[in-house]
Amino acid sequence: MRVVSGIQPTGNLHLGNYLGAIRNWVRMQDEMDAGNRAQAAAGGSAEKNQCLFFLADLHAISQPHDPAELKAATLEMAAALVACGIDPARSVLFNQAQVPAHAELQWLLNGTARMGWLGRMTQWKDKSGKNREGQSVALFGYPVLQAADVLLYQTTHVPVGEDQKQHLELARDIAQKFNNDFASDEAPVFTLPDPIVPPEAARIMSLRDGARKMSKSDESDMSRINLADDADTIMKKIKKAKTDPEPLPSEAAGLADRPEALNLVTIYAAATGHGVDAVLAEFGGEGFGKFKPALGEVLVETLGPIAARFRELKQDRETLDAILARGAAKAREMGGPTLDAAYRALGLVRG
Ligand code: TRP
Repeated sequence: MRVVSGIQPTGNLHLGNYLGAIRNWVRMQDEMDAGNRAQAAAGGSAEKNQCLFFLADLHAISQPHDPAELKAATLEMAAALVACGIDPARSVLFNQAQVPAHAELQWLLNGTARMGWLGRMTQWKDKSGKNREGQSVALFGYPVLQAADVLLYQTTHVPVGEDQKQHLELARDIAQKFNNDFASDEAPVFTLPDPIVPPEAARIMSLRDGARKMSKSDESDMSRINLADDADTIMKKIKKAKTDPEPLPSEAAGLADRPEALNLVTIYAAATGHGVDAVLAEFGGEGFGKFKPALGEVLVETLGPIAARFRELKQDRETLDAILARGAAKAREMGGPTLDAAYRALGLVRG
């Protein structure tokens, strides 16, 4: 297996980012390792399962942005990923901007991608809204860069959220058409990647409003648990979280019309790895006076070590630069053969 995934660098990382994408990556990395050990123990092939994770900084310029903020967010996100458990010694961790092959391959794939395909992308439609003419060409071509991100590495699996499945379908279409048009059946240039959508990617909502997603841009800091929050802050935010006056139900169905209660139980379940049912089996019938302190403790325990490492790494520019430089060097090496094959297939003459 070759697993590749990217994340746009944003500042103000919070619990929602961790329990959503990031923790899922860490899990993939660990499973991949276990697979490698099992293969080696069975005397199996030397072909290694490998994860590549990158910061999609090139994607970030498809919408208006502030250069200083982008730089800070890229470094902050790298620090967060490492703090959360992405191990640069086991996974290849880098930012796109240090691997020019992403942008090069995008250009080569621009010859294959079709305007009609891109025009049907729901993310393009949502983000461009009523003002298509005013959008950057990069926003329209965003999914082609995403296709290049994965096709460059002969990726077999791409962990993504439900909202990115359409982009992955497009990457497959581009790969298929390129192979058809420019390669023989015996020697295709690209592997067709499969999306892996985690079964229960936790949807973490605001602590102030159970109908809104936990978000870095919410004006109230009380609405989210930040990755860098200390224990006291976490406790305070959980105790002040919006709830209703009822005790917790004993079964999940009882949470149907109680978005705030559902959110807190979901957070507890995601942070402990127990199901919602197991949490309710333990806390059903209890009020929030008992549940909130328990939840606060679970979060302090889960996030405490992450927050400490995150704060430390954020200040350590030298270490971060070294991690990203090493990951980028490895990614350049891994992507080289496919990029060369794509140039060759297209009849482009290069020295
Ligand atoms: N578009 C993805 C998102 O917004 C981020 C991304 C960029 C990505 N390139 C990728 C995800 C390649 C998976 C594979 O979440």
